[in-house]
Amino acid sequence: MLHWLAAARAALVPPAPGEGAVLVDLGCGAGLLAPHLDGKGYTHIGVDLSLGALRQAAEHGVLGVQGDVLAVPLPDACAEVVVAGEILEHVPDLRRAVAEACRLLRPGGLLVIDTLAATAMCRLLAIGVAERLPRIATRGVHDPRLLVDREVLVAACAKHDVALELRGIRPKLTDFAGWLLGRRETVRMVPVPTTAVLFQARGRKRV
Ligand SMILES: C[S@@+](CC[C@H](N)C(=O)[O-])C[C@H]1O[C@@H](n2cnc3c(N)ncnc32)[C@H](O)[C@@H]1O
Repeated sequence: MLHWLAAARAALVPPAPGEGAVLVDLGCGAGLLAPHLDGKGYTHIGVDLSLGALRQAAEHGVLGVQGDVLAVPLPDACAEVVVAGEILEHVPDLRRAVAEACRLLRPGGLLVIDTLAATAMCRLLAIGVAERLPRIATRGVHDPRLLVDREVLVAACAKHDVALELRGIRPKLTDFAGWLLGRRETVRMVPVPTTAVLFQARGRKRV
């Protein structure tokens, strides 16, 4: 599912505004976002705690920086785009992670997020169900206590001059059925009217 989410995340990233534009990918993992950014013109810097993940990301052309998203070893305002894909629901201090993401953004820069909401429905679907389905999510990968409170997220971004807009997404059901049957390689994500489970968020830093 991380592959499907990476494709949906990349769709929110516009082409680079100029040569040398930097995209910082917080919790980049194995660099799954990189192939979907091909041709957009960014220097793709990935930050992750895991050296193994950074090695895999490097194979996709990601410039790796080993570090904690709660204290990113990169300078202020270094990035045109900061991406936090499937990472905020893994950190023990959401406000700190948001502050770091916003610190890295240049004025006018774009923050792109996807994560899981702190709701009973999300605990049921994303943990209770999805973690029991084969090849969807590793069992135990999510700590329900770390799911993201959407109000806290929006307020934390606003505090750092980023006005965030949220939209819910889910796998397209016909694609998902095809994938389960082995007839499709990938599954597209589609919008849903609720942000109570899986959602994307996007906002620009005030100039
Ligand atoms: C669920 S994976 C998502 C990877 C990638 N963003 C993607 O969507 O494919 C979470 C990643 O965050 C990393 N991670 C978890 N906590 C972190 C932290 N505090 N600082 C940096 N990386 C962290 C993990 O090592 C892992 O690679």
